[in-house]
Amino acid sequence: MQDRPPILKLDAVSKIYRSGEFEVKALDNVSFQVNGGEIVAVMGPSGSGKTTLLTIAGALLRPSVGRVHVCGIDVSEMSEGDLASVRRTKVGFIYQSFNLLEALSALENVVIVSQNHGHDKQTADERARDLLEMFGLGHRMHALPKKLSDGEKQRVAIARALAKDPELLLADEPTANLDSKRGHEVMELLRQKAMELHKGVVVVSHDNRIRQFADRVVWLEDGRLRDDETHSV
Ligand SMILES: Nc1ncnc2c1ncn2[C@@H]1O[C@H](COP(=O)(O)OP(=O)(O)O)[C@@H](O)[C@H]1O
Ligand SMILES: [Mg+2]
Repeated sequence: MQDRPPILKLDAVSKIYRSGEFEVKALDNVSFQVNGGEIVAVMGPSGSGKTTLLTIAGALLRPSVGRVHVCGIDVSEMSEGDLASVRRTKVGFIYQSFNLLEALSALENVVIVSQNHGHDKQTADERARDLLEMFGLGHRMHALPKKLSDGEKQRVAIARALAKDPELLLADEPTANLDSKRGHEVMELLRQKAMELHKGVVVVSHDNRIRQFADRVVWLEDGRLRDDETHSV
């Protein structure tokens, strides 16, 4: 069997934001990779470059320097249109504020993504139901987001991210709006399901508790990456 490429590979990536004469080097020579079935936590304080890293990994933003491969595809210098296509087919995003559509039920929030991904209504409906069951929300499918607890909302959001069957899952501070019990439940479910489905997962957080759910932890500090072992508290 041929070796599969890593799901995500960053080689010497730097990102410089420029506005007028000001420059911010948000990422400085960052290299790392994530394989299928692996969950990597990227930790670091506010402003260390975590969201920038995730945005580049998710093909929402191009690096200033360096190369980025998503599922073996070099996205470093792609056009906006091609980036959008990689993003649509390969990447599922999970946000701290859930970003559910408030007018749609939990089920409809997941169905719509599955339909956008080309499934017919019936298949999309079945997939969405399966995913919500998988996340313990079988009894909450018809509820509107405002009737769900924050933990339930985040589980719907993860089900939604998985609805298009992406190879890469990217989560930006997924527990930031959850109390520690709900945060723990959500992370445990994300870890279990992502591993069962052999996804590559990157979770960024400034919350130290995230590390227990990761196969590997890397630290960002002022845009520079260091391995967990070398980090002194
Ligand atoms: N769009 C932007 N334009 C200019 N500077 C930015 C932009 N986004 C982030 N930054 C700066 O880049 C650095 C890293 O930000 P960010 O990636 O959001 O870090 P984190 O998610 O770890 O808080 C910060 O200094 C931030 O102010
Ligand atoms: Mg951030």
